[in-house]
Amino acid sequence: MNAAVPEPASNAPNWVRHAALKQWVAQIAELTQPDRIEWCDGSEEEYDRLCEMMVQAGTLRRLNPDKRPNSYLAWSDPSDVARVEDRTFICSLTEEDAGPTNNWVDPTEMRKTLDGLFSGCMRGRTMYVIPFSMGPLGSPIAHIGVELTDSPYVVANMRIMTRMGRKVYDVLGTDGAFVPCVHSVGMPLQPGQNDVAWPCNETKYIVHYPETREIWSFGSGYGGNALLGKKCFALRIASNMGRDEGWMAEHMLILGVTSPEGQKMHVAAAFPSACGKTNFAMLIPPKQLSGWKITTIGDDIAWIKPGEDGRLYAINPEAGYFGVAPGTNEKTNYNCMASLRENVLFTNVALTDDGDVWWEGMGPAPEHCLDWQGNDWTPDSGRKAAHPNARFTVSAVQNPVIDPEWDNPAGVPIDAFIFGGRRSDTVPLVTEARNWTEGVYMAATLGSETTAAAAGKQGVVRRDPFAMLPFCGYSMGSYFAHWLELGKRLEKAGATLPRIYCVNWFQTDEQGRFIWPGFGENMRVLKWMLERIQGRAHGEENLFGVSPRYRDLSWDGLDFSSEQFDAITLIDTEAWRTELQLHAELFEKLRDRLPAELASHQERLSAQL
Ligand code: OXD
Ligand code: MN
Repeated sequence: MNAAVPEPASNAPNWVRHAALKQWVAQIAELTQPDRIEWCDGSEEEYDRLCEMMVQAGTLRRLNPDKRPNSYLAWSDPSDVARVEDRTFICSLTEEDAGPTNNWVDPTEMRKTLDGLFSGCMRGRTMYVIPFSMGPLGSPIAHIGVELTDSPYVVANMRIMTRMGRKVYDVLGTDGAFVPCVHSVGMPLQPGQNDVAWPCNETKYIVHYPETREIWSFGSGYGGNALLGKKCFALRIASNMGRDEGWMAEHMLILGVTSPEGQKMHVAAAFPSACGKTNFAMLIPPKQLSGWKITTIGDDIAWIKPGEDGRLYAINPEAGYFGVAPGTNEKTNYNCMASLRENVLFTNVALTDDGDVWWEGMGPAPEHCLDWQGNDWTPDSGRKAAHPNARFTVSAVQNPVIDPEWDNPAGVPIDAFIFGGRRSDTVPLVTEARNWTEGVYMAATLGSETTAAAAGKQGVVRRDPFAMLPFCGYSMGSYFAHWLELGKRLEKAGATLPRIYCVNWFQTDEQGRFIWPGFGENMRVLKWMLERIQGRAHGEENLFGVSPRYRDLSWDGLDFSSEQFDAITLIDTEAWRTELQLHAELFEKLRDRLPAELASHQERLSAQL
């Protein structure tokens, strides 16, 4: 190490043997000027100690141990409650590489801006060094990251969400590759200045440098803005790695489904944020289909690589769930509620008078509680007790239906991809693509009504290709091309590609009520898909692909009429004219790198409609 290295970095413990890593930590410490550096080992003792420290500081509240053992509640600053997409940047060398759907700033300019912001930004705080593996330690599909942060809340969350701690250094050795992630809440403390419960900064930057595979995040302590292994690394940076190395980083849950005959298949499904991915990943089939069994591999992100046999194998790079709490209850997601009985970090839910948590849709409202901002709340206060994007952070192994293969370094072979958005009209219940290109078109033109997971307006339809709009770390047109090419390459090598399906659980009637019951009943659609793959189920071709007729689905135990079925499967020509026009507008926006096949598919559909 050179002479300019400041004192603090010299405290690296002897189990860190990676010189370049120590050098980098020293460099960031010199820039950010923390009071001390703590090298996290990922132990339970460390987790407990940091949580206790945060309880003392007012960041966390310990929940009633009789109700919710070993669990805590954090309330964020009211201005720091969701991912900030308009403050998220892909700073590739050229603007074209970031593409028209990402915010771009020249990397040289951005580095200057960030140098200014990070300069001295950790004064009065501890800088934590968090080593983490995305994916099973040592898996050929996994990758390592190291996050430097001045937020102990981030440390605690990262310990649940990733494989974090000392064992990562064994995999890294003296010179292993890692993605450097720097995070600061952006609120340095002057000597004697009291801290606040949730430090953050009005100025926010979530920045990715794709070529150098770096992440810098400033000003927010919340979720995907701060837990840099998740959206920043596992999607934005990893999508770049995947394009360069021939694999895929996708915003997909992964589930296993076992038929009554004991045949097991694996499905990866992409839905935009807060469209019930966690519910789908932990689905409990209705009684009449109880011979079917669903097991969870992942609830949010999939890394998918071609195996030796040409099939696509997926791992869940995460080790925990950072799920949306509101709307979750024992009926909508029993398994999720069972996962949340202990050892949970809650953020922005309400605190009941007996020291437990509550959120809208959990069950009967308490007569009184404290809302997510700490104010008295009663059912007639006319506002929500929990923030709509309130979250739980919980370890995946607490899921009672965790798949036995969830941690298998080899991953699981994918049989089907599902893409779905939240659409109150137009898009039918389920359509099967007849070939890879048709499926890629469906995914590329996915639209969804926006939700509280991201800051901004809610309920407007936006195009969200592959549910990756906020998460693709390079030009969306090139990403489509990557999907098409990978498919072609595998098909040419004789592989059977996963089938692709497009679904919509969210059509509403004139009163705005959902027509399709959803949740466990989605098993009926899943069953149809899997039996299609086995060559056992029938359907009817239409303009967009193949869809089931009423008689092709199992209705045993569900009161759902053929009229209701028609209402959510009918192709409304007028609505589709408008829809195809919106596809054309998206493609126009992506024109520069849009694969010609997708544009001509759009034209063919328009002509045939
Ligand atoms: C998430 C999201 O938190 O997609 O998973 O916003
Ligand atoms: Mn997500």
